[in-house]
Amino acid sequence: MTAFDPSTLLNPVIKSLSAYKPVEPLDSLSTELGFRVEDLVKLDANENPYGPPRSVLEALASYDWYHIYPDSAQTRLRERLAALHGVPESMIAVGSGSDELLNNLSQMFLLPGDRILDMPPTFLMYSSNAHLYGAEVVEVPRRPDDYSLNVEAVEAAVLDGRVGDGGPVKIVYAATPNNPTGTWLTDGECERLLDLPALVVLDEAYIEFAGEPSRVARVAEHDNLVVLRTFSKAVGMAGLRLGWGVFPDWLMEQFWKFKQPYNVNQAALVAGLTGLEHWSEVRMVVDRIRAGQRQLWTGLAGISFLDPVPSAANFVLCRVRGRSALEVRDGLRRQGILVRYYDTPLLSGCIRISVGREDQIDRVLTALQEME
Ligand SMILES: Cc1ncc(COP(=O)(O)O)c(C=O)c1O
Repeated sequence: MTAFDPSTLLNPVIKSLSAYKPVEPLDSLSTELGFRVEDLVKLDANENPYGPPRSVLEALASYDWYHIYPDSAQTRLRERLAALHGVPESMIAVGSGSDELLNNLSQMFLLPGDRILDMPPTFLMYSSNAHLYGAEVVEVPRRPDDYSLNVEAVEAAVLDGRVGDGGPVKIVYAATPNNPTGTWLTDGECERLLDLPALVVLDEAYIEFAGEPSRVARVAEHDNLVVLRTFSKAVGMAGLRLGWGVFPDWLMEQFWKFKQPYNVNQAALVAGLTGLEHWSEVRMVVDRIRAGQRQLWTGLAGISFLDPVPSAANFVLCRVRGRSALEVRDGLRRQGILVRYYDTPLLSGCIRISVGREDQIDRVLTALQEME
């Protein structure tokens, strides 16, 4: 043992944090719950139950060059994305999941004492990344009835932040559709956010399910806008880790200096390119999931103790009435059905159910009906 305590050398910000609680991996769930992995109904992480197109798996299996480092500029993928989405390739950043890009943005902008603006209930990584870099989180909760944004309060918080005694609000995060509520950000709300003196990060992880146009092309008109996208949801590649974003030119210039050279592995690049080549298959799966979402929502609305929230994404948030949401979660879990439960104040009494395959939707609805 050393004569001093090496843990005292650690960045105190890290020491003060509590660990992020990710969803449990399939194999440990299988052991814990006594179900085979293939019999578990995993509806707790908004994954795509169909996975990527078969051609993606074939391309991964037949690729021969995994012993060579990947292209650190991800040129081919960026070219394809640019052509498909009508944005210049020079404005496209690629990451190991959009999570990596979210973390990169926090690290590039935030110093201890700075602030970000979060609109809970929303994706937890925005606030947990801010805490990681010693920044403060200004919370402007969504309206409790329909989870829409309280834009007036957002404007006041950002503008007050400039004159108050805290640091400036540097980043405003808005997921659209929002996780876990499924709420869509309207054009009017978006415009008002973009008028603020802050970087606006629009997180479009679930955009393909919304049936609404992406705002990626708007980045060229707004130099305070970043739009993030992912291959995890619509393309079914959550396990491969591939995300991308459209950044304004001035930010791309800094991003190239900042990013790790080989941040995206070759398997993710092969899979991503192949997924884009087979986009019509991705579209078919997205349509199937959207139909499943309607089936799930209608079924949930028929359960007397559930109040499903309208959703533009591949999941449905439900308020649980007259009984404990935790007990509902645990009851499903005992049957090998996993849904997301939250113990945060704004989501107390809620569960979130991702859209599974048709047979999985039937299983969760039947299990809930049996709890009536
Ligand atoms: C709103 C939102 N943004 C980003 C992510 C992260 O996506 P990725 O798998 O690309 O890191 C998620 C994951 O669930 C999410 O819900």
